[in-house]
Amino acid sequence: GTTLGASAAERGRYFGTAVAASKLGDSVYVSILNREFNMVTAENEMKWDATEPSQNNFTYANGDRIANQARGNGSRIRGHALTWHNQQPTWAQNMSGSALRSAMVNHITNVATHYRGQIFSWDVVNEAFADGTGGGRRDSNLQRTGNDWIEVAFRTARAADPGAKLCYNDYNTDGVNPKSTAIFNMVQDFKNRGVPIDCVGFQSHLTNSVPGDYQANLQRFANLGVDVQITELDISGANQAAVYGTVTRACLAVARCNGITVWGIRDSDSWRTGQNPLLFDNSGNKKAAYNTTLSALNTG
Ligand code: G3I
Repeated sequence: GTTLGASAAERGRYFGTAVAASKLGDSVYVSILNREFNMVTAENEMKWDATEPSQNNFTYANGDRIANQARGNGSRIRGHALTWHNQQPTWAQNMSGSALRSAMVNHITNVATHYRGQIFSWDVVNEAFADGTGGGRRDSNLQRTGNDWIEVAFRTARAADPGAKLCYNDYNTDGVNPKSTAIFNMVQDFKNRGVPIDCVGFQSHLTNSVPGDYQANLQRFANLGVDVQITELDISGANQAAVYGTVTRACLAVARCNGITVWGIRDSDSWRTGQNPLLFDNSGNKKAAYNTTLSALNTG
């Protein structure tokens, strides 16, 4: 193939990007988006603060703009994210206990129902585990509603959109480490108890290198009977081009790795200001990292 999306499709995968609704009027941005990508994630527009700014008052205009653009281009959509400790609306930040738990369930039901049938995978729960060596949950208002909040979120999402793959998504999980192992143990427990989980997202915000056991880590999750997806890839540093190739080959080597999403199109679109971690420069030209990625998709 001659584009990321077409080349990934030849390998039975997708290649996606995060999209910001505010950039859909930028012709350089949209032409790269339509040419190269066949999966789209809303960078912010489907999050809790964006979709439910006041309690039980749902706003989908910007999320729908991205979904409609994707559909028009024949792209699939990753829903991001039904629950997260970050980017909650103020009213939810100030809630706790059973009231917050009910609000969470209502939120998931409404948003997943609105997008029912349109979403390839939903990030049902984002970043719920703590960094460091403890292997525990991250403290948050949601966590303080009870340790079962994650499985409640997954069961609620399944009921609202039975056709979407339901993912757990996190960062600093790129190798075998205490955080990824804690998530591995949760997924294994969910599979054993019949809690509906279909996939695990590895954000893969990387700096100059990737752990040597990246592929092995993806594979151990796949061996639990879930799909794996690289969901927010961006790589800074001098080894950028080579590391993009390594990450791409790792996904292709794991049968249950569905695809790769990069977290933005041009360097100037990245949340990592000044780090130039993406595949296109500020003018929209292909970088060396684009070439190693495309070549890995085509030749391994
Ligand atoms: O839209 C407002 C704008 O009206 C206001 O003038 C401006 C002033 O600060 O803020 C704008 O909102 C910003 C929003 O991005 C849209 O640009 C927020 O401040 C800013 O915090 C927000 O950042 C997003 C970040 O998540 C929030 O945590 C990034 O765009 C987004 O790339 C980033 O994405 C996350 C994933 O969802 C989860 N994994 C980590 C990843 C990187 O942090």
